[in-house]
Amino acid sequence: MSRTRVIVLLLCAITTLEKNSSSAAPVTASDSAARWTNPCNATRNFSAGDFAIWDVPEFEKIQRIQENLLATKDKAASLKTKLAKERLRSIALELSLESKHIDNFPNTTISQEDLELYKTNVTLAYVRSYRDLSVVAVFLEAIREDEVKYEHGSLLSVFHENEEQLYRLLCEVHNAILVSGVTIGYESRDIMPNNMRNMSDRFWRNMRDFIIIKDSVTLFQSILNMTQAVLESRNSSS
Ligand SMILES: *[C@@H]1O[C@H](CO)[C@@H](O)[C@H](O)[C@H]1NC(C)=O
Ligand SMILES: *[C@@H]1O[C@H](CO)[C@@H](O)[C@H](O)[C@H]1NC(C)=O
Ligand SMILES: *[C@@H]1O[C@H](CO)[C@@H](O)[C@H](O)[C@H]1NC(C)=O
Ligand SMILES: *[C@@H]1O[C@H](CO)[C@@H](O)[C@H](O)[C@H]1NC(C)=O
Ligand SMILES: *[C@@H]1O[C@H](CO)[C@@H](O)[C@H](O)[C@H]1NC(C)=O
Ligand SMILES: *[C@@H]1O[C@H](CO)[C@@H](O)[C@H](O)[C@H]1NC(C)=O
Repeated sequence: MSRTRVIVLLLCAITTLEKNSSSAAPVTASDSAARWTNPCNATRNFSAGDFAIWDVPEFEKIQRIQENLLATKDKAASLKTKLAKERLRSIALELSLESKHIDNFPNTTISQEDLELYKTNVTLAYVRSYRDLSVVAVFLEAIREDEVKYEHGSLLSVFHENEEQLYRLLCEVHNAILVSGVTIGYESRDIMPNNMRNMSDRFWRNMRDFIIIKDSVTLFQSILNMTQAVLESRNSSS
């Protein structure tokens, strides 16, 4: 069988897999507290208003978020390259996965309409970005857990580094939202489809991981573009 044919068959199988297991019983991947509800690992009680965050000017908040977005994107981009080289090990497979997505992963395109909204209400941009970034955190947690379970953690330190950088970013966005007095509705682990968790088959898992990391890079870049547009609109209006 030719390589291309194998890949086509695999991709058909991915689609079938996704359709078949939507009725699977819920899986609790981890009993630990959802870290994206407290990304700064603060010991204070935020809901009691027991926090004192240094309230910096809005443009400085955006810049700090941008710096972290850049760092998060760079780490994800080098992980993407690493996964392609060490795990997929086929350019044809890599190319065919470029157009694939995992259900419930955030949309990586920000519409012009939303962008205009974000220019007038940057808090809304933070809230929506926080939601999307915390979904990425859910997916990264599952990748890391499977790496420990099935690969004896050979790429564990790289996955861990990516997660830690994402939490530095989440912490900045979290603070930016909290100082504006808006409450955050947190996502739960259920957002990640059950059939995409606990993947014991190495080949499927490699493809899943690549797709998630590839779309993460695009998402970070798209939020980065959005913050840049917001920043520029503020500069030109002041
Ligand atoms: C969060 O803080 C607790 C208590 O100080 C500590 O035990 C835990 O390791 C920290 N978690 C992270 C991810 O830094
Ligand atoms: C935090 O404060 C809220 C509101 O005062 C209270 O309901 C909640 O029990 C507190 N949580 C903790 C962990 O102390
Ligand atoms: C993602 O958002 C864009 C812009 O709003 C939209 O055109 C596109 O259809 C969305 N994609 C999905 C899969 O929902
Ligand atoms: C901006 O968005 C936030 C978050 O959705 C919302 O709570 C707030 O009311 C909005 N502000 C304005 C002026 O529309
Ligand atoms: C993960 O999958 C393996 C094999 O498919 C199974 O034995 C194990 O119970 C599953 N673990 C969880 C937490 O679902
Ligand atoms: C971000 O903006 C750059 C330059 O304007 C553009 O080339 C790129 O496609 C955008 N990326 C995303 C993910 O929106």
